[in-house]
Amino acid sequence: MKIKNDLFLRACKKEKVERTPIWIMRQAGRYLPQYRAVREKADFLTMCKTPELAAEVSIQPVDLIGVDAAIIFSDILVIPEAMGMHLEMHEGKGPIFHHPIRSEDDAKMLKDIDPTKDLKYVLDAVALTKKELKGRVPLIGFAGSPFTLLTYMVEGRGSKNFSEIKKLLYGNPKLAHSLLNKIAKAVAIYLSAKIEAGANAVQIFDTWGGILTPDDFREFSLNYISKIISELKRKDEPVIVFAKGVHYKLKKLSKCGADVIGLDWTMDLKSVREKIGKRVALQGNLDPTVLYADESKIREEAKKVLASYGKGSGHIFNLGHGILPDVNPENAKALVRIVKEESMIFHSKN
Ligand code: CP3
Repeated sequence: MKIKNDLFLRACKKEKVERTPIWIMRQAGRYLPQYRAVREKADFLTMCKTPELAAEVSIQPVDLIGVDAAIIFSDILVIPEAMGMHLEMHEGKGPIFHHPIRSEDDAKMLKDIDPTKDLKYVLDAVALTKKELKGRVPLIGFAGSPFTLLTYMVEGRGSKNFSEIKKLLYGNPKLAHSLLNKIAKAVAIYLSAKIEAGANAVQIFDTWGGILTPDDFREFSLNYISKIISELKRKDEPVIVFAKGVHYKLKKLSKCGADVIGLDWTMDLKSVREKIGKRVALQGNLDPTVLYADESKIREEAKKVLASYGKGSGHIFNLGHGILPDVNPENAKALVRIVKEESMIFHSKN
């Protein structure tokens, strides 16, 4: 089916657009009362595993906020769950694995996955969301990077100093690499299956890449991201890599095979564009907490982001990380309207 509003896909390929497209990381989530209403009836994992519910909340931000792309409602941790780890989502505490992977014996318990069986519910959700979107906007599929997934699998929960994952990297790098290989294989076939099911683009979230030294980032994270991208079965579906806090390896990052690099708000779009903007498109990077401000401040900050990228295609507006659950949805809506209004002047008419 032809996509009516394909600004996002064109910008990913640095093709000409009339205005800058915008979507918001974590746009299908708790800041929306309409999401919370669905969530009251089902727990988080049940929502992920029920295609009708996943499709409903994936489409909500398109209807309510006006974004230029939908992202499939799911979580990065469905892969470790499919590999056999028991996942619990705790309100306030986030995800917990009660039996984290810390030894070779623990690692043996992880099975190889077949996404068409073990993660069929995600593929069904993608197909149903695609159908219900009726070609209004593109649909983004996603996965965690192998390193970010391994961090959760080893730590067992969110962490402050990441001592368990670092113990593994420095104490038993051989085991770390064998686990990263196994996860990378799973992510590559999973993302390929999502594209096959109808995703128009995919994003790899490397939320924890930035906790590593520059050399370790290359060895334990970037190498596996590149491997996944080279193994993806895709036609012209763009790949976005969002690696939070990885300002020190931008040149290397831009050569991983991604079409788009997502930036957090600590980076300056103008200087990043000068460095890598010839090779890749850029996504980002408004500080998510700007959405706590009033509309005039949101406008001022959004204009700064647009001006920092400057004229021409190759920019997808987004926040520098996920939208926070206590943001007023009216402010998210205002941001989308502001970007639509203020970005036209950065794109020439002919
Ligand atoms: O972007 C979207 O709207 C699509 C859905 C999406 C979710 N998680 C839904 C979710 C996406 C893309 C993710 C990715 C994800 N999940 C990441 C990478 C992105 C990032 O923010 O860095 C990570 C690290 C996770 C792991 C995860 N899942 C955490 C840490 C948490 C708890 C913290 C939190 O934000 O609540 C989750 C739960 C989760 N994933 C929720 C949602 C809507 C909240 C669950 C609920 O409704 O109770």
